[in-house]
Amino acid sequence: ASTLKASAEAKGRYFGTALTRGDLGISAEVNLAAAQFDMVTPGNEMKWDATEPSRGSFNFGSGDQIVSFAQSHGMRVRGHNLVWHAQLPSWVSSLPLNQVQGVMENHITTEATHYKGKVYAWDVINEPYNEDGTLRQDVFYKAMGADYIANALRAAHAADPDAKLYINDYNIEGTNAKSNALYSLAQSLLSRGVPLHGIGFESHFIVGQIPSSLQANMQRFANLGLDVAITELDDRIPMPADSSELQQQGTDYGKVVNACLAVARCVGVSQWGVDDGHSWIPGTFPGYGAPMMWDSGYQPKPAYTAALNAL
Ligand code: XIL
Repeated sequence: ASTLKASAEAKGRYFGTALTRGDLGISAEVNLAAAQFDMVTPGNEMKWDATEPSRGSFNFGSGDQIVSFAQSHGMRVRGHNLVWHAQLPSWVSSLPLNQVQGVMENHITTEATHYKGKVYAWDVINEPYNEDGTLRQDVFYKAMGADYIANALRAAHAADPDAKLYINDYNIEGTNAKSNALYSLAQSLLSRGVPLHGIGFESHFIVGQIPSSLQANMQRFANLGLDVAITELDDRIPMPADSSELQQQGTDYGKVVNACLAVARCVGVSQWGVDDGHSWIPGTFPGYGAPMMWDSGYQPKPAYTAALNAL
């Protein structure tokens, strides 16, 4: 097949992208996205700072625009995200701790109800772990301890029983202290009947550094009865990128796609963006860039060819 989405669909998978409202105004970018991808994650528009900037005052306009774009192009949506320590308005992090659970559950219920039937999956919990495998001491943890995770999953499930509910994090792609801690948590949640359906492996990689345990690590989560997904793939290169690094990036993308295909419960791969010109990477990791399958002129790179050939 000649597109990522057609090839992924032939294997029972999806190939997704992240789009922001700003991206929707860039016709070359959205045309490419609509041609190649069948899943969309809103880059920022469903986060707490966008959806409930002040207490009880909800705004779903930007998220709705992403959903309409997706629907009109036959793409599904991964909701991202409901509970995260970042892009969290300060009114939440400064609440008296005895009000946090009610506010969190109201936020989840309101947002997941608004998007009920429109999202395939929710990243209910985003980036809960420190690198050493301890949970971040954010306002949710301070208020409820580790139970905030089960509480959030239960609220999301009550609001949208058909959505697949995920915990999503980075640096959990290989087997390490952080992924071991998440694995134990997943086992514990499932044994208690908490509605957890999937694990999202963000996969913000550096060229040449795909963890060798990626497939085995995804497989152990799948063996618990969970779906797994590559949710935010990019592969950054120290600037300027030379041709051997671009070839290595192709090798990397091929490895990631192959790892997903080798795990029956791996439902799909999403790249975090479309082209190098609109990626979040240069702004967040100074000195790095060129992390996408298309360059800033929307031309396919070796990574695109490698991903397509791997499918
Ligand atoms: C990023 C967005 O791409 C940026 O536009 C924003 O400034 C910061 O957040 N992990 C996640 C995503 O789960 O929500 C982040 O998205 C990238 C890291």
